[in-house]
Amino acid sequence: MRAETCDGDSPHSFDCAQDSSGPLPPVPFLLSRAVIKFWAMRNPPDLRVQLAPRHPRGLILANPVMIAAGIAGYGSEYGEIADIQKLGAIVCKGTTLVPREGNIQPRLVETAGGLLNSVGLENIGVDALIREKAPLWTNWQVPVIVNVAGETINEYVAVASKLEGVAGISGIELNISCPNVSAGGMEFGVDPELAARVTSAVKSVTSLPLIVKLSPNVTDIKEIALAVEGAGADAISLINTLRGMAIDIDQRKPCLGNVVGGLSGPAIKPVALCMVFEAARVVRIPLLGCGGIACAEDALEFIMAGATAVQIGTAALTNPHICLTTLEGIERFMLDREVENVVELIGVARHKP
Ligand SMILES: Cc1cc2nc3c(=O)[nH]c(=O)nc-3n(C[C@H](O)[C@H](O)[C@H](O)COP(=O)(O)O)c2cc1C
Repeated sequence: MRAETCDGDSPHSFDCAQDSSGPLPPVPFLLSRAVIKFWAMRNPPDLRVQLAPRHPRGLILANPVMIAAGIAGYGSEYGEIADIQKLGAIVCKGTTLVPREGNIQPRLVETAGGLLNSVGLENIGVDALIREKAPLWTNWQVPVIVNVAGETINEYVAVASKLEGVAGISGIELNISCPNVSAGGMEFGVDPELAARVTSAVKSVTSLPLIVKLSPNVTDIKEIALAVEGAGADAISLINTLRGMAIDIDQRKPCLGNVVGGLSGPAIKPVALCMVFEAARVVRIPLLGCGGIACAEDALEFIMAGATAVQIGTAALTNPHICLTTLEGIERFMLDREVENVVELIGVARHKP
């Protein structure tokens, strides 16, 4: 499984991208390049992105790099090993109305190029989150988005209602795409009508920006994306994990205790990228690209496909600094190419044959 940063060893390294072996350009050109470089050093690129342009308050992030749900818990423990305050946002663990113990072990299995998980939404429940976690977030520079999960529309609505007015929370990410639970979750994310119903029901009880996280386990992502946009979503994250499994041939049984789990990591990146590209063709609200992102080049691919921001998941499990190195790589790319504002890169690959 790849989880390294894209440094000079990468075949796509930014440092190697420019060919220095050709003839020297004329002096005035060199001078103007030097002036631009000097100017760029004094004026770092603008990395700010708006995740909820339709929302009255909006949701502006300092930069487009986020940690995906389920990776950094509630942020506090992860914050001890990586400087999460510099990130665009963090999404906390999927939260339900009552605490959940999750699925039986084993819950994690490595596969070629990926990770299968069947954690099953283990979490402390919304009341404990409000009591114990949200107060910590009020002093944080990084916005925290709460990932909300449920088995019924009423449960999603109840969790969102409880979060209303709680200080320290900048937005809700509605998880209608979890493949690891027996009820709810993905059922909502594979049916456009249900996806729209749960989105509008939650929208009606929250004043927070509402992001809806879609499942890749569908035939046509455009249909679901349009449904949740029409139902009032402020933004869409895509994708959650792909349903998958592995079998232990010595024990002659499935590796995961839950039999089936969700596949994440580099193996799913092309699928996720394609879904962002397709969704970006039909919706006007911001997209948050997620799936196999492990370096700045990956993140830039998603941005060029149409994502306003990116979320890093599995890669951050093996390298907690990956989000920051990705952010630095994006900034370096922009400086090298004299891109002043990251917004200029969003969706640029869509306009080329
Ligand atoms: C261990 C683990 C736990 C996860 N928990 C959640 C969760 O609680 N809510 C959610 O919406 N997605 C959850 N996900 C999905 C990720 O947020 C992300 O959408 C997915 O893993 C694809 O991104 P990646 O390939 O960068 O990991 C989880 C993923 C993993 C690996």
